[in-house]
Amino acid sequence: MLPLVPLVFLACPGFGSQTLGGGSSEVPADPTYVEHAGPILDDYCAPCHGETPSGGAPDYFRLDAYENDGSRDGAVEMADRIVARATGDSPTMPPAYATQPSDIDREILAAWVADGAPYGADTGGTQ
Ligand code: HEC
Repeated sequence: MLPLVPLVFLACPGFGSQTLGGGSSEVPADPTYVEHAGPILDDYCAPCHGETPSGGAPDYFRLDAYENDGSRDGAVEMADRIVARATGDSPTMPPAYATQPSDIDREILAAWVADGAPYGADTGGTQ
């Protein structure tokens, strides 16, 4: 049975990217918060890092908001920590017991931050 596993994955178009979040099958050239990173953060991070932190999550930031809401940092201020915890070879967020984003979703988050974590296509910058 084990040798069949890779074949099953190959035979399944979009494997790993058809769940929540952006649901993209590739990393867009110019990812934005509105179109790409935001939906991923909303689905996979905001359940704990939302308006009301839950699951033991720290309360100094929220990942369901783009920027600081007046008292807590948002995704753009946390961009480097998002990359550190949710992208790369050994991501530690979301915690192993929570629903995991696809590899593509993680790459989109990394590309978004590398691009300066823009809000929308029009703004170009971080604000
Ligand atoms: C099931 C709940 C849960 C989900 C979902 C979750 N986290 Fe966390 N997160 C935690 C907990 C608990 C901590 C505190 C313990 C720790 O730092 O590991 C934490 C801490 C953090 C921190 C602060 C510590 C640091 O390293 O700066 C960041 C940033 C973070 N998470 C990012 C994310 C991102 C990005 C996602 C989505 C891809 C995510 N988390 C999804 C529970 C969650």
